[in-house]
Amino acid sequence: MFISFEGIDGCGKSTQVQLLEGVLRTKGYNVLVLREPGATPLSEAVRQVLLNSTFDIEATAELLLFCASRRQLVEHVIKPEIAQSTIVICDRYADSSTAYQGYGRGIPIETVHSANAIATGGLMPDITFYLGISVSESLARAGSRSESALDRMERAGTEFFERVRTGYQNISETESRFCVIDGTQTVQEIHMQIISAVDALQRTL
Ligand code: TYD
Repeated sequence: MFISFEGIDGCGKSTQVQLLEGVLRTKGYNVLVLREPGATPLSEAVRQVLLNSTFDIEATAELLLFCASRRQLVEHVIKPEIAQSTIVICDRYADSSTAYQGYGRGIPIETVHSANAIATGGLMPDITFYLGISVSESLARAGSRSESALDRMERAGTEFFERVRTGYQNISETESRFCVIDGTQTVQEIHMQIISAVDALQRTL
């Protein structure tokens, strides 16, 4: 089974990924948690480039770097692990490129889909949890971090994140694998909704 988590920065994905991992491990499943960009030595190196705020990266170059990182992860880790019946949980995947590079940066969505198709080879999650929060909530959760503490993506500004958020809403309306969750609920409420959706999915597989 392949599960991904999506949402704007600060939506609470990482906490929920850890909680889900714990429950699935307790049930005896082999679970692998990955983050994008990252999770292979090459992908982690690409991550350093992408988040380094000293680089001025052109939008399509940015898309291709995210996709290069994704391709490496899919071929070297995700496909082999799924073949071994591991439950793979990915903190961000192809939808992040659609939301951030497509809707956020303004690259035509068809171009992003083409790049994603090359990167993923068509491998998409069985279910994607989208944790929705407002941009003001995201900024509030980021707290009072100084400009110098923000990575290159986090410096993109409020209007960028509004476009990303609209993008996720559009994707959620067209992709049946999207499970939309109100990210302003308590950690435990969100966790219970995720567990019941995963249980329901497991009964159908
Ligand atoms: P990260 O620190 O992992 O953020 P988060 O905890 O919010 O996941 O940094 C990843 C950043 O890269 C985040 O701002 C989202 C962005 N991103 C893209 O713009 N496109 C992509 O395809 C992916 C995977 C991430």
